[in-house]
Amino acid sequence: MEIASLPRPRGAHSRVNLALVVPSARHQNCELNTLQSGRLADGHRELPEAMRRATLGRPAMGGSARGEPMSGPVVNTIGQLVGVALELGALEYARVTAGERAVLRQAEQVDRDLVKRAREHILRGDDPLGEAFGALRAASERRSTGATFTPNALVTAMVNWVKPWEPERIVDPGSGSGRFIVAAGRVMSKPHLVAVELDPLCALMLRAQLAVTGLAHRTTVCVADYPSLPLNRIAGRTAFIGNPPYVRHHSLTPQCKHWYMTSAAKLGIKASQLAGLHAHFILATALKASSRDVGCFVTAAEWLDVNYGSALRTLFVEHLGLRSMQLVEPTAKPFPDADTTAVICCFETGTRVAAVKVSRVARLRANGAIERGRAVSRARLRDTPRWTSLTRRARSATDGYIELGEICSVHRGQVTGQNQIWIVDPGTTELPPSVLFAAVTRARELFAAGFAITDATPFRCVVDIPRELDRLPPESRRVIERFLRRARAAGADANYIAQHRKPWWSVGLRKPAPILATYMARRPPAFVRNLAELRHVNVAHGLYPRLPMTQNALDELTRYLQSSVSCADGRVYCGGLTKFEPREMERLLVPAPC
Ligand SMILES: C[S@@+](CC[C@H](N)C(=O)[O-])C[C@H]1O[C@@H](n2cnc3c(N)ncnc32)[C@H](O)[C@@H]1O
Repeated sequence: MEIASLPRPRGAHSRVNLALVVPSARHQNCELNTLQSGRLADGHRELPEAMRRATLGRPAMGGSARGEPMSGPVVNTIGQLVGVALELGALEYARVTAGERAVLRQAEQVDRDLVKRAREHILRGDDPLGEAFGALRAASERRSTGATFTPNALVTAMVNWVKPWEPERIVDPGSGSGRFIVAAGRVMSKPHLVAVELDPLCALMLRAQLAVTGLAHRTTVCVADYPSLPLNRIAGRTAFIGNPPYVRHHSLTPQCKHWYMTSAAKLGIKASQLAGLHAHFILATALKASSRDVGCFVTAAEWLDVNYGSALRTLFVEHLGLRSMQLVEPTAKPFPDADTTAVICCFETGTRVAAVKVSRVARLRANGAIERGRAVSRARLRDTPRWTSLTRRARSATDGYIELGEICSVHRGQVTGQNQIWIVDPGTTELPPSVLFAAVTRARELFAAGFAITDATPFRCVVDIPRELDRLPPESRRVIERFLRRARAAGADANYIAQHRKPWWSVGLRKPAPILATYMARRPPAFVRNLAELRHVNVAHGLYPRLPMTQNALDELTRYLQSSVSCADGRVYCGGLTKFEPREMERLLVPAPC
């Protein structure tokens, strides 16, 4: 098909409710700002021969509603794919962008039968264009733009979660061939639909799907960079739904990273340059969303446990109003291209539920509920640096029992860096009492303690010197400086720990924990009530109540832990040592407080 004979765009934008989305001049440039232009504009690049043949409707991306391959004519090239999109009506409802026009120049003549059957498949709920795109564009190339399309069962389950919220507008950031926006439009007749997609070829497939399904008249297609796309506020509720592109930070431009860091800082969040594009999308959503908006995103689960994910965890808990988190195991093939674990997060901005529903599934079901599972308090999510462990089911949760982590956070004691320097016998030092803290420094002290420690006198002290020496009384300061000179001469400033704290002499003890526990031995841990307000170093864990607990409740909890925890609850190492990491200790079941 010659470009000259293409159907002309009819009434460009005239059928679109522009009040619901405000594209601006800014996002006209954003293709270059956010992704290296070479990565997205190359949809029509010559492909290796092996990648050229794809049958329309073959579930190449595993996302066909029925999974039946179509027989008959095939799409061999991106040009033919563009030709089919055109014939399906990609140009009929809106003016297309310059980027899309460039792609349209590739359009090739296509068989009428092929177009007819593509239309039939779209009407049946399949995505033959998206599947052909998946087969024609090499996985490595799709990875560079994060173009991994979502299987139908996952799309349906997520749309089903959104539906009862009765949104007035649905926004699909990174809409690809339109799986979410079309599925949402099918089951919700009222909301205005906004699809944001940077890749012009995807945008054309999306427009074709919208034309076939009769959704074009209530959809705004923005061929734009989602993070920098301005979205106006509306009176009603917006639902954000989709699968943000997973593009590693190495492929992102410095400007893009700068936007991420500075925008996160505006929300008081310290973000990392190592975050990928999916993180940028989630931050952008937090910035665009209004109170009472809702959202449901599926992403690769990596951010739950890695350092760059800490900003996302804070965003979800503090800003987006996380309601539920469902881990999808790789067996469910959440992303058919990769053996990846996925996570579906549902949120309602402006609300702060006391507990977030957390679950894990090994199989995808379109009718499977997403917001379900055990309740994990927001406080615990806030304190837990790695979230995947929270999705594991408690070993034998029974009525009346909860995980210890729901009521207490568990923290390992401070590492001193050099015990010979920083742990002293109070009678043998000239250091002033203000820098000496009686502490548990040997596990055997807890094993010997029985139920409670009431007297701090027999314990050694940890030297914890304040950061600012000039605030000390002159005499104390002189003594401390003498001590520090000796410590430095002994190399106490040169080890790894000292070099990673500021200043090197500030051990930074935690405050006294009301319950202390050993965590590594050939016997069950000792849990001890710390009535002497001892500090602890890294031979012990401290249990800190998340909410105030009475002395009585703390005693009861200690008694219960002393009598119930066995070696089988921990992780056994060769040689028979049983170890409880803080998060493992938080998984212990304890009676729920009345
Ligand atoms: C993981 S795919 C999801 C596609 C579709 N929503 C689905 O789930 O099947 C992410 C999509 O985001 C698009 N994308 C990448 N960077 C973008 C950006 N900066 N702004 C908007 N879309 C972008 C990619 O082209 C890709 O189609």
